[in-house]
Amino acid sequence: MTPSSPAAGAAAAVPARPRVPLVPPLSAASLRRVRGAPARALPGVLDAPAVRLVTSGRIALALALRELGVGPGDTVLLPAYHSLSMVPPVLWRGATPRFYRVDAQARADLGDIAAQCDAGARVLVATHYFGFPQDLVALRAWCDARGIALVEDCAHAFFGEHAGKPLGSHGDYAIASTMKFFPMYEGGALVSARHALDGVALRSAGKGFEAKAALATLEYAFSYGRLGALRALLALPLRAKDLLWRRIKAGRRAAAGAGAAAVALAPGSSDSDASFDPHWLDKRTSAFSRLLLARVSRQRIVALRRRHYQALQALLAGRPGCRPLFAQLPDGVCPWLFPLLVDDADAAFARVRRLGVPVVRFAETLWPGMDPARCPHSAYLSRHVLAFPCHQELAPDEFDWLRARLDEVFPA
Ligand SMILES: Cc1ncc(COP(=O)(O)O)c(C=O)c1O
Repeated sequence: MTPSSPAAGAAAAVPARPRVPLVPPLSAASLRRVRGAPARALPGVLDAPAVRLVTSGRIALALALRELGVGPGDTVLLPAYHSLSMVPPVLWRGATPRFYRVDAQARADLGDIAAQCDAGARVLVATHYFGFPQDLVALRAWCDARGIALVEDCAHAFFGEHAGKPLGSHGDYAIASTMKFFPMYEGGALVSARHALDGVALRSAGKGFEAKAALATLEYAFSYGRLGALRALLALPLRAKDLLWRRIKAGRRAAAGAGAAAVALAPGSSDSDASFDPHWLDKRTSAFSRLLLARVSRQRIVALRRRHYQALQALLAGRPGCRPLFAQLPDGVCPWLFPLLVDDADAAFARVRRLGVPVVRFAETLWPGMDPARCPHSAYLSRHVLAFPCHQELAPDEFDWLRARLDEVFPA
């Protein structure tokens, strides 16, 4: 780091939003395949025989626990390195979360899982952090030997395979967060290769939600200069929508003030907060998201994420003060982000933010009910991992810009 650089000066303001998109914006190219990359995409969680498309990953997790009959007196084994959004679904079932350790590479610690496994343990949730699979063969065998259900948390791993099988197919159930991989505003999935999902009946969340999901996807794309012709065409209707929306919001605020419970027009998601609202349990993902899931090129998502990840890895490997969390990108992995372990993470975080570089601090806040001493590796990872986008919608000039900024922040 060069503290004397002007961008590192205390006076430099943090831009209101990243200079390049943190999550994939929809573009005309989203639907096209990538030439010169492997023709076949990796398998994805939606290839499972039973699929329910819901509005978020946390809702899918709650439904998995409900399908498993989890209730009061039961224990759900969760990783100590977690998203805050993973805990409320467990509490919603009246069950108790118990946190198991992970190692320095965020691999589930089977010895500690066994130590945490009390008589009430019903479910083990295993998270494939940043797209990298856990040892599913060992976890499956451990669960089978004890009659414990395995839920694969594929929120970071929509595509991939492990031990010759697709991610999501080793668990009794798997959950996914579609908006982390596809250019869409909302979405999650509950899938199973072992159970029918007959108990999960879904319906539309209503016209307001359908409109919001479509418009928010388009407006995010427009805000990053995508879909210019469509933007020009929709300029007037969008202005009218803004006016109408302001009115609706004012009406809702007034109704909430009068004591009526106001239901949010869209569910909580990883991009907003860790909230959990059971209102969304029986709601289907929007028609617009379903259309995109069917049309967006999966081959392109996998090929370009891997390409970008490898380019960042090549750039930053061996740089002092930081190292990639995972030494390699194995075949069969489609990354969510590029996670970098940084010694002085707070200073680097402040610096990249000031430069407008999009960055995620996954698990920056751990569940307050968990003793931070429970897992020193989780405490370390939550403070020292800075994760940078490698998604398929980074245009070549945006990716060059991102690389140049990272080169500057983490000099050789
Ligand atoms: C590991 C993990 N699991 C589950 C979730 C919940 O996903 P969603 O935000 O779609 O509810 C997240 C969200 O970031 C997550 O990081």
